[in-house]
Amino acid sequence: MSNILELKQGSRQRSILKLGSLFASAALLFAPQAVLGQHEVDTDEGSRGPVKINGNENAFGYSQMAMMAIMQELPDINRYAWEETRALIDAIAARELVPAEYVVPTAGSGPILQMTAMAYAEEGKNVVTVAPGYMQLVRTFEAFGGDVKTVPVNDKLEYDLEAVKAAVDENTVMVYLCNPNNPTGTIVDPDALKTFIRELPPEVVAFVDEAYLELADGGLEANSMIGLVREGENVILARTFSKVYGMAGLRVGYGIMKPDTVTKVRKYSMGGPNKLGCVAGVASLQDAAFFEQSVSSYRSVRKMVTDKLDELGVEYADPQGSFVFMKTGIPIKEFQAMMEEEQVLVGRPFPPMLDWCRVSIGTEEEMQVFLDVFEKVMTDQGKI
Ligand SMILES: Cc1ncc(COP(=O)(O)O)c(C=O)c1O
Repeated sequence: MSNILELKQGSRQRSILKLGSLFASAALLFAPQAVLGQHEVDTDEGSRGPVKINGNENAFGYSQMAMMAIMQELPDINRYAWEETRALIDAIAARELVPAEYVVPTAGSGPILQMTAMAYAEEGKNVVTVAPGYMQLVRTFEAFGGDVKTVPVNDKLEYDLEAVKAAVDENTVMVYLCNPNNPTGTIVDPDALKTFIRELPPEVVAFVDEAYLELADGGLEANSMIGLVREGENVILARTFSKVYGMAGLRVGYGIMKPDTVTKVRKYSMGGPNKLGCVAGVASLQDAAFFEQSVSSYRSVRKMVTDKLDELGVEYADPQGSFVFMKTGIPIKEFQAMMEEEQVLVGRPFPPMLDWCRVSIGTEEEMQVFLDVFEKVMTDQGKI
Protein backbone atom coordinates (compact mmCIF):
# COMPACT_ATOMS: atom_id res chain seq x y z
CA MET A 1 0.00 0.00 0.00
CA SER A 2 2.70 2.45 1.07
CA ASN A 3 4.63 1.47 -2.07
CA ILE A 4 1.65 2.46 -4.18
CA LEU A 5 1.36 5.74 -2.32
CA GLU A 6 5.05 6.45 -2.84
CA LEU A 7 4.72 5.59 -6.49
CA LYS A 8 1.78 7.96 -6.86
CA GLN A 9 3.54 10.71 -4.92
CA GLY A 10 6.69 10.19 -6.96
CA SER A 11 4.84 10.51 -10.23
CA ARG A 12 2.98 13.56 -8.91
CA GLN A 13 6.23 15.20 -7.92
CA ARG A 14 7.70 14.41 -11.31
CA SER A 15 4.65 15.97 -12.95
CA ILE A 16 4.98 19.07 -10.76
CA LEU A 17 8.68 19.32 -11.61
CA LYS A 18 7.88 18.92 -15.28
CA LEU A 19 5.23 21.61 -14.97
CA GLY A 20 7.71 23.91 -13.21
CA SER A 21 10.20 23.71 -16.06
CA LEU A 22 7.40 24.02 -18.59
CA PHE A 23 6.25 27.25 -17.01
CA ALA A 24 9.85 28.50 -17.07
CA SER A 25 9.99 27.81 -20.81
CA ALA A 26 6.59 29.44 -21.09
CA ALA A 27 7.99 32.67 -19.70
CA LEU A 28 10.41 32.70 -22.64
CA LEU A 29 7.67 31.84 -25.07
CA PHE A 30 5.53 34.65 -23.77
CA ALA A 31 7.82 37.30 -25.18
CA PRO A 32 5.26 39.39 -27.10
CA GLN A 33 6.37 38.38 -30.57
CA ALA A 34 6.17 34.66 -29.81
CA VAL A 35 2.74 35.03 -28.26
CA LEU A 36 1.45 36.65 -31.38
CA GLY A 37 3.23 33.92 -33.35
CA GLN A 38 4.57 36.51 -35.71
CA HIS A 39 7.14 35.41 -38.23
CA GLU A 40 10.09 37.68 -37.96
CA VAL A 41 10.32 39.61 -41.17
CA ASP A 42 13.71 41.20 -41.50
CA THR A 43 13.60 43.70 -44.33
CA ASP A 44 17.36 43.42 -44.65
CA GLU A 45 17.63 41.66 -48.04
CA GLY A 46 18.95 38.14 -47.91
CA SER A 47 18.57 37.55 -44.19
CA ARG A 48 14.81 37.04 -43.94
CA GLY A 49 13.14 33.65 -44.23
CA PRO A 50 10.38 33.04 -46.74
CA VAL A 51 7.07 34.77 -46.19
CA LYS A 52 4.63 31.86 -45.98
CA ILE A 53 1.30 33.06 -47.31
CA ASN A 54 0.45 29.88 -49.18
CA GLY A 55 -1.48 27.73 -46.68
CA ASN A 56 -4.20 29.88 -45.07
CA GLU A 57 -2.48 29.61 -41.71
CA ASN A 58 -3.01 32.16 -38.95
CA ALA A 59 0.09 34.37 -38.77
CA PHE A 60 -1.25 36.10 -35.64
CA GLY A 61 -0.68 33.02 -33.49
CA TYR A 62 -3.18 31.46 -31.12
CA SER A 63 -4.75 32.04 -27.73
CA GLN A 64 -2.46 32.33 -24.69
CA MET A 65 -5.20 30.68 -22.67
CA ALA A 66 -5.01 27.72 -25.05
CA MET A 67 -1.23 27.64 -24.66
CA MET A 68 -1.57 27.51 -20.87
CA ALA A 69 -4.21 24.78 -21.10
CA ILE A 70 -1.88 22.72 -23.31
CA MET A 71 0.98 23.07 -20.86
CA GLN A 72 -1.17 22.14 -17.90
CA GLU A 73 -2.33 19.03 -19.73
CA LEU A 74 1.10 17.89 -20.90
CA PRO A 75 1.95 15.67 -17.90
CA ASP A 76 -1.27 13.70 -18.47
CA ILE A 77 -1.02 12.74 -22.11
CA ASN A 78 -0.36 9.15 -21.08
CA ARG A 79 -4.17 8.96 -20.65
CA TYR A 80 -6.83 8.88 -23.34
CA ALA A 81 -8.88 12.01 -23.96
CA TRP A 82 -12.32 10.76 -22.85
CA GLU A 83 -13.14 13.54 -20.38
CA GLU A 84 -11.47 16.24 -22.43
CA THR A 85 -13.39 15.22 -25.56
CA ARG A 86 -16.62 15.35 -23.55
CA ALA A 87 -15.71 18.83 -22.28
CA LEU A 88 -14.93 19.99 -25.83
CA ILE A 89 -18.26 18.65 -27.13
CA ASP A 90 -20.12 20.40 -24.30
CA ALA A 91 -18.28 23.68 -24.90
CA ILE A 92 -19.04 23.54 -28.63
CA ALA A 93 -22.69 22.62 -28.02
CA ALA A 94 -23.06 25.56 -25.61
CA ARG A 95 -21.46 27.88 -28.16
CA GLU A 96 -23.58 26.66 -31.08
CA LEU A 97 -26.80 26.40 -29.05
CA VAL A 98 -27.36 22.80 -30.14
CA PRO A 99 -27.66 19.61 -28.06
CA ALA A 100 -24.35 17.79 -27.50
CA GLU A 101 -25.59 14.88 -29.70
CA TYR A 102 -25.32 17.20 -32.72
CA VAL A 103 -21.55 17.68 -32.36
CA VAL A 104 -18.90 15.45 -33.97
CA PRO A 105 -15.37 16.57 -33.00
CA THR A 106 -12.56 15.58 -35.37
CA ALA A 107 -8.81 16.10 -35.84
CA GLY A 108 -9.22 19.29 -37.88
CA SER A 109 -12.32 19.76 -39.98
CA GLY A 110 -10.82 17.83 -42.91
CA PRO A 111 -11.87 14.47 -41.42
CA ILE A 112 -15.51 15.56 -41.04
CA LEU A 113 -15.50 16.44 -44.75
CA GLN A 114 -14.00 13.06 -45.60
CA MET A 115 -16.18 11.01 -43.24
CA THR A 116 -19.28 12.60 -44.71
CA ALA A 117 -18.10 11.90 -48.25
CA MET A 118 -17.51 8.24 -47.33
CA ALA A 119 -20.93 7.99 -45.71
CA TYR A 120 -22.80 9.36 -48.74
CA ALA A 121 -20.70 8.23 -51.74
CA GLU A 122 -22.21 5.45 -53.80
CA GLU A 123 -21.83 4.38 -57.40
CA GLY A 124 -24.30 6.29 -59.57
CA LYS A 125 -24.85 8.99 -56.94
CA ASN A 126 -23.38 12.47 -57.15
CA VAL A 127 -22.32 15.48 -55.12
CA VAL A 128 -22.83 18.94 -56.63
CA THR A 129 -20.24 21.62 -55.91
CA VAL A 130 -18.70 24.80 -57.32
CA ALA A 131 -15.36 25.35 -59.08
CA PRO A 132 -12.93 26.73 -58.24
CA GLY A 133 -13.51 25.45 -54.72
CA TYR A 134 -12.11 23.44 -51.83
CA MET A 135 -11.99 19.88 -53.08
CA GLN A 136 -11.22 17.70 -50.03
CA LEU A 137 -14.78 16.43 -49.64
CA VAL A 138 -15.50 15.89 -53.33
CA ARG A 139 -12.19 14.11 -53.96
CA THR A 140 -13.03 11.61 -51.22
CA PHE A 141 -16.57 11.27 -52.58
CA GLU A 142 -15.02 10.37 -55.95
CA ALA A 143 -12.51 7.98 -54.39
CA PHE A 144 -15.39 6.11 -52.77
CA GLY A 145 -17.19 5.59 -56.08
CA GLY A 146 -19.46 8.62 -56.39
CA ASP A 147 -19.59 11.25 -59.15
CA VAL A 148 -18.85 14.95 -58.84
CA LYS A 149 -20.81 17.64 -60.71
CA THR A 150 -19.13 21.06 -60.69
CA VAL A 151 -20.78 24.36 -61.48
CA PRO A 152 -18.64 27.41 -62.37
CA VAL A 153 -18.71 30.58 -60.27
CA ASN A 154 -20.30 33.67 -61.87
CA ASP A 155 -18.53 36.80 -63.21
CA LYS A 156 -18.05 38.18 -59.69
CA LEU A 157 -16.56 34.81 -58.68
CA GLU A 158 -19.58 34.22 -56.45
CA TYR A 159 -21.84 31.20 -56.28
CA ASP A 160 -24.59 31.07 -58.85
CA LEU A 161 -27.22 29.34 -56.71
CA GLU A 162 -29.66 29.02 -59.63
CA ALA A 163 -27.02 27.11 -61.61
CA VAL A 164 -26.19 24.94 -58.59
CA LYS A 165 -29.88 24.16 -58.16
CA ALA A 166 -30.18 23.29 -61.85
CA ALA A 167 -27.29 20.81 -61.50
CA VAL A 168 -29.10 18.85 -58.77
CA ASP A 169 -30.67 15.75 -60.35
CA GLU A 170 -32.38 12.55 -59.20
CA ASN A 171 -28.97 11.01 -58.36
CA THR A 172 -27.74 13.90 -56.23
CA VAL A 173 -27.24 13.01 -52.57
CA MET A 174 -25.29 16.07 -51.45
CA VAL A 175 -24.50 19.70 -52.28
CA TYR A 176 -21.15 20.91 -50.89
CA LEU A 177 -20.66 24.67 -50.54
CA CYS A 178 -17.77 26.34 -48.84
CA ASN A 179 -18.83 29.71 -47.45
CA PRO A 180 -16.74 31.86 -47.78
CA ASN A 181 -15.46 29.91 -50.72
CA ASN A 182 -11.84 28.82 -50.85
CA PRO A 183 -10.05 30.08 -53.00
CA THR A 184 -12.29 32.94 -54.19
CA GLY A 185 -13.14 34.21 -50.68
CA THR A 186 -16.63 35.31 -51.69
CA ILE A 187 -19.73 34.62 -49.56
CA VAL A 188 -23.37 33.93 -50.35
CA ASP A 189 -26.18 36.12 -49.12
CA PRO A 190 -27.45 34.24 -46.04
CA ASP A 191 -31.14 34.60 -46.90
CA ALA A 192 -30.55 33.39 -50.45
CA LEU A 193 -28.58 30.41 -49.14
CA LYS A 194 -31.30 29.53 -46.62
CA THR A 195 -33.94 29.62 -49.34
CA PHE A 196 -31.73 27.52 -51.62
CA ILE A 197 -31.23 24.87 -48.92
CA ARG A 198 -34.90 24.79 -47.97
CA GLU A 199 -35.82 24.23 -51.62
CA LEU A 200 -33.48 21.25 -52.08
CA PRO A 201 -35.19 17.85 -52.26
CA PRO A 202 -35.44 16.73 -48.61
CA GLU A 203 -33.22 13.68 -49.17
CA VAL A 204 -30.33 15.84 -50.48
CA VAL A 205 -28.03 16.93 -47.67
CA ALA A 206 -26.57 20.45 -47.81
CA PHE A 207 -22.98 20.49 -46.52
CA VAL A 208 -21.87 24.03 -45.70
CA ASP A 209 -18.19 24.40 -44.86
CA GLU A 210 -17.88 27.49 -42.66
CA ALA A 211 -14.11 27.26 -42.06
CA TYR A 212 -13.56 31.01 -42.56
CA LEU A 213 -16.98 32.46 -41.77
CA GLU A 214 -15.94 34.35 -38.61
CA LEU A 215 -14.00 36.71 -40.90
CA ALA A 216 -16.90 37.60 -43.19
CA ASP A 217 -18.63 41.00 -43.05
CA GLY A 218 -21.28 40.75 -40.36
CA GLY A 219 -19.46 37.81 -38.71
CA LEU A 220 -20.58 34.30 -37.91
CA GLU A 221 -24.02 34.89 -36.45
CA ALA A 222 -25.30 36.90 -39.41
CA ASN A 223 -24.04 34.49 -42.04
CA SER A 224 -24.07 30.99 -40.56
CA MET A 225 -26.51 28.25 -41.55
CA ILE A 226 -26.54 26.98 -37.94
CA GLY A 227 -30.15 28.16 -37.63
CA LEU A 228 -31.19 25.55 -40.21
CA VAL A 229 -29.40 22.79 -38.28
CA ARG A 230 -31.21 23.87 -35.11
CA GLU A 231 -34.50 23.74 -37.04
CA GLY A 232 -33.78 20.12 -38.00
CA GLU A 233 -33.12 20.70 -41.72
CA ASN A 234 -30.97 18.22 -43.64
CA VAL A 235 -27.81 20.32 -43.22
CA ILE A 236 -24.26 19.55 -42.08
CA LEU A 237 -21.95 22.34 -40.98
CA ALA A 238 -18.18 22.07 -40.61
CA ARG A 239 -16.07 24.39 -38.50
CA THR A 240 -12.40 24.44 -37.57
CA PHE A 241 -10.01 25.75 -34.94
CA SER A 242 -7.29 25.95 -37.66
CA LYS A 243 -8.15 29.36 -39.04
CA VAL A 244 -9.35 32.27 -36.90
CA TYR A 245 -8.29 30.40 -33.71
CA GLY A 246 -4.83 29.71 -35.18
CA MET A 247 -4.51 26.05 -34.16
CA ALA A 248 -3.82 24.46 -37.57
CA GLY A 249 -0.96 22.34 -36.23
CA LEU A 250 -2.99 20.95 -33.37
CA ARG A 251 -5.80 19.53 -35.54
CA VAL A 252 -9.21 20.33 -34.04
CA GLY A 253 -12.44 20.79 -35.94
CA TYR A 254 -16.02 19.58 -35.83
CA GLY A 255 -19.22 18.88 -37.66
CA ILE A 256 -22.73 19.85 -36.51
CA MET A 257 -25.72 17.88 -37.77
CA LYS A 258 -28.92 16.10 -36.72
CA PRO A 259 -28.41 12.98 -34.57
CA ASP A 260 -29.55 10.58 -37.34
CA THR A 261 -26.93 12.13 -39.65
CA VAL A 262 -24.36 11.81 -36.83
CA THR A 263 -25.10 8.06 -36.72
CA LYS A 264 -24.58 7.76 -40.47
CA VAL A 265 -21.37 9.84 -40.59
CA ARG A 266 -19.72 8.63 -37.38
CA LYS A 267 -19.42 5.08 -38.76
CA TYR A 268 -16.47 6.38 -40.77
CA SER A 269 -14.67 8.02 -37.85
CA MET A 270 -10.95 7.42 -37.60
CA GLY A 271 -10.51 9.07 -34.22
CA GLY A 272 -11.19 12.46 -32.72
CA PRO A 273 -8.91 15.29 -31.64
CA ASN A 274 -6.12 14.57 -29.18
CA LYS A 275 -6.06 15.56 -25.52
CA LEU A 276 -4.04 18.75 -26.02
CA GLY A 277 -6.28 19.80 -28.90
CA CYS A 278 -9.39 19.26 -26.78
CA VAL A 279 -8.22 21.40 -23.86
CA ALA A 280 -6.85 24.07 -26.22
CA GLY A 281 -10.17 24.12 -28.09
CA VAL A 282 -12.15 24.67 -24.88
CA ALA A 283 -9.74 27.41 -23.75
CA SER A 284 -9.88 29.11 -27.18
CA LEU A 285 -13.65 29.28 -27.03
CA GLN A 286 -13.33 31.09 -23.68
CA ASP A 287 -10.73 33.56 -24.92
CA ALA A 288 -12.90 36.31 -26.37
CA ALA A 289 -9.98 38.76 -26.38
CA PHE A 290 -7.83 36.60 -28.67
CA PHE A 291 -10.79 35.99 -30.97
CA GLU A 292 -11.46 39.72 -31.31
CA GLN A 293 -7.78 40.45 -31.87
CA SER A 294 -7.48 37.74 -34.53
CA VAL A 295 -10.58 38.89 -36.41
CA SER A 296 -9.63 42.56 -36.32
CA SER A 297 -6.02 41.85 -37.39
CA TYR A 298 -7.27 39.80 -40.34
CA ARG A 299 -9.73 42.48 -41.38
CA SER A 300 -7.29 45.38 -41.16
CA VAL A 301 -4.42 43.62 -42.99
CA ARG A 302 -6.87 42.29 -45.60
CA LYS A 303 -7.97 45.87 -46.23
CA MET A 304 -4.38 47.04 -46.47
CA VAL A 305 -3.84 44.43 -49.22
CA THR A 306 -7.01 45.26 -51.17
CA ASP A 307 -6.29 49.01 -50.93
CA LYS A 308 -2.93 48.41 -52.59
CA LEU A 309 -4.48 46.12 -55.23
CA ASP A 310 -7.00 48.89 -55.99
CA GLU A 311 -4.14 51.35 -56.34
CA LEU A 312 -2.32 48.98 -58.71
CA GLY A 313 -5.51 48.29 -60.68
CA VAL A 314 -5.35 44.54 -60.00
CA GLU A 315 -8.61 42.59 -60.18
CA TYR A 316 -9.59 40.48 -57.13
CA ALA A 317 -12.64 38.72 -55.74
CA ASP A 318 -14.37 40.22 -52.68
CA PRO A 319 -12.34 38.67 -49.85
CA GLN A 320 -14.43 37.50 -46.89
CA GLY A 321 -12.00 34.92 -45.49
CA SER A 322 -8.33 34.84 -44.48
CA PHE A 323 -7.00 35.22 -48.04
CA VAL A 324 -7.33 37.27 -51.23
CA PHE A 325 -7.77 35.77 -54.71
CA MET A 326 -6.29 38.06 -57.37
CA LYS A 327 -5.77 38.05 -61.10
CA THR A 328 -2.11 38.19 -62.09
CA GLY A 329 -2.56 37.24 -65.74
CA ILE A 330 0.49 34.99 -65.31
CA PRO A 331 0.20 31.16 -65.27
CA ILE A 332 0.12 30.34 -61.57
CA LYS A 333 3.03 27.86 -61.60
CA GLU A 334 5.26 30.51 -63.23
CA PHE A 335 3.99 33.19 -60.87
CA GLN A 336 4.66 30.94 -57.85
CA ALA A 337 8.23 30.41 -59.04
CA MET A 338 8.79 34.16 -59.59
CA MET A 339 7.52 34.96 -56.11
CA GLU A 340 9.50 32.12 -54.53
CA GLU A 341 12.61 33.51 -56.14
CA GLU A 342 11.89 36.60 -53.98
CA GLN A 343 11.26 34.48 -50.86
CA VAL A 344 7.47 34.78 -50.93
CA LEU A 345 5.42 31.57 -51.01
CA VAL A 346 1.94 32.05 -52.53
CA GLY A 347 -1.03 29.72 -53.01
CA ARG A 348 -1.23 26.68 -55.28
CA PRO A 349 -3.14 26.42 -58.60
CA PHE A 350 -6.93 26.43 -58.40
CA PRO A 351 -8.31 25.12 -61.70
CA PRO A 352 -9.86 26.37 -63.85
CA MET A 353 -8.61 29.86 -62.84
CA LEU A 354 -4.98 29.23 -63.62
CA ASP A 355 -3.84 32.82 -64.03
CA TRP A 356 -5.17 33.88 -60.64
CA CYS A 357 -3.38 33.57 -57.32
CA ARG A 358 -4.58 33.00 -53.76
CA VAL A 359 -2.60 34.83 -51.12
CA SER A 360 -3.19 34.15 -47.43
CA ILE A 361 -3.27 37.13 -45.07
CA GLY A 362 -0.09 37.25 -42.99
CA THR A 363 1.07 39.90 -40.55
CA GLU A 364 1.19 43.52 -41.66
CA GLU A 365 4.98 43.27 -42.08
CA GLU A 366 4.71 40.08 -44.12
CA MET A 367 2.04 41.56 -46.39
CA GLN A 368 4.13 44.68 -46.92
CA VAL A 369 6.94 42.42 -48.14
CA PHE A 370 4.45 40.58 -50.36
CA LEU A 371 3.04 43.79 -51.82
CA ASP A 372 6.49 45.16 -52.63
CA VAL A 373 7.55 41.93 -54.34
CA PHE A 374 4.17 41.62 -56.08
CA GLU A 375 4.41 45.13 -57.51
CA LYS A 376 7.94 44.43 -58.76
CA VAL A 377 7.02 41.09 -60.39
CA MET A 378 3.83 42.43 -61.96
CA THR A 379 5.68 45.49 -63.30
CA ASP A 380 8.54 43.36 -64.70
CA GLN A 381 5.98 41.16 -66.44
CA GLY A 382 4.16 44.15 -67.92
CA LYS A 383 0.93 43.29 -66.08
CA ILE A 384 0.50 46.64 -64.31
C1 LIG B 1 -12.64 25.41 -46.77
C2 LIG B 1 -11.80 24.53 -45.94
N1 LIG B 1 -12.39 23.54 -45.26
C3 LIG B 1 -11.68 22.71 -44.50
C4 LIG B 1 -10.32 22.83 -44.40
C5 LIG B 1 -9.59 21.84 -43.57
O1 LIG B 1 -8.85 22.46 -42.56
P1 LIG B 1 -8.59 21.76 -41.18
O2 LIG B 1 -8.56 20.28 -41.41
O3 LIG B 1 -7.28 22.30 -40.73
O4 LIG B 1 -9.71 22.15 -40.28
C6 LIG B 1 -9.66 23.85 -45.09
C7 LIG B 1 -8.20 23.99 -45.03
O5 LIG B 1 -7.57 24.84 -45.55
C8 LIG B 1 -10.43 24.71 -45.89
O6 LIG B 1 -9.88 25.70 -46.59
